[in-house]
Amino acid sequence: MIVLGIESSCDETGLAVYDTEHGLLAHVLHSQIALHGEYGGVVPELASRDHVRYLLPLTEQVLEKAKITKSDLDGIAYTAGPGLMGALMVGACTGRAMAMALGVPAVGVHHMEGHLLAPMLEEKAPEFPFVALLVSGGHTLLAEVKGIGQYELLGESLDDAAGEAFDKTAKMLGLGYPGGPILAKMAEKGEAGVYRFPRPMCDRPGLDFSFSGLKTFSLNTWQKEVEQGNENEQTQANICRAFEEAVVDTLMIKSRRAIQQVGAKTLVIAGGVGANLRLRASLQAMMEKEGGELFYPRIEFCTDNGAMIAYAGALRLAAGETEPLLISARPRWPMSELSAVVSQKS
Ligand code: KG4
Ligand code: ZN
Repeated sequence: MIVLGIESSCDETGLAVYDTEHGLLAHVLHSQIALHGEYGGVVPELASRDHVRYLLPLTEQVLEKAKITKSDLDGIAYTAGPGLMGALMVGACTGRAMAMALGVPAVGVHHMEGHLLAPMLEEKAPEFPFVALLVSGGHTLLAEVKGIGQYELLGESLDDAAGEAFDKTAKMLGLGYPGGPILAKMAEKGEAGVYRFPRPMCDRPGLDFSFSGLKTFSLNTWQKEVEQGNENEQTQANICRAFEEAVVDTLMIKSRRAIQQVGAKTLVIAGGVGANLRLRASLQAMMEKEGGELFYPRIEFCTDNGAMIAYAGALRLAAGETEPLLISARPRWPMSELSAVVSQKS
């Protein structure tokens, strides 16, 4: 079964073709970083318009790259939520219209399920069951994954998502958008041990997170340094380093607690913050100590992409899942509402 995947939930237009027999055939991505950069963050209306502009040309491009034509497609998968409503609707309308015109089924994919299954696109893919640490701009959660659609929430962020904390802290330090990768780069130049940031909610039991305090801690630290005349790039880098270490440590501690709690030997990391190298290294070392294994997608499949949507959609379509002829998208969509996929073709 050959499936076209469409991702348009936020600031990236991603298209991909996944073949259940031969794997990923092609993927293309258009990032809106340049478009939103001057506003310091994503402007939803501009995002929607840009998706409209790029979706069809990118579809042509990805089909060409995959060396197939529209008539070879057996199904269409599009991100149906969570995300920005207007942006989601662009992908949903286009995906459903294409499916109708081609006479093939379409399926709306949960964006976070896409992230969660992205490591399956790699040669070294995890096997169920596993614990997943999903860390993106909108979500931070730990889940026990027993199969496709069988996700038990173990813990989540009570306020800012990890990526959101990176983005907001970068903005406060005047580092710009997108904050996560810029802050991580700055942190490389930072000196370790200059500041000691808290590890929020680690001293009490449970698997929930809270990152909004770290952002305030960063701001207070920066303001104090500015008052003392230390407003320079090295100070910024040192704060970035301390902030990054605090987030990474917190995610590692909670992930360790989660795998110990459920007795898992496999940890999967996915979502945009999964691109963070310090986080990968920390989780890798922790899993080695625990006698388990860590799995993650290649860097470009940590952040938003069409491949993860094509893959998740292909699994659901191959299992016979279809939807009524209804164009819908859900800006908010708890993963606990997803149905389990019991049998699936390879
Ligand atoms: O998964 P994603 O592309 O979009 C959402 O579904 O939210 O994640 C984007 C988030 C942003 O907050 C971005 O700053 C963060 O992932 N991010 C990073 C890094 N690369 C992206 N955070 C820390 N370090 C990175 N290297
Ligand atoms: Zn995402």
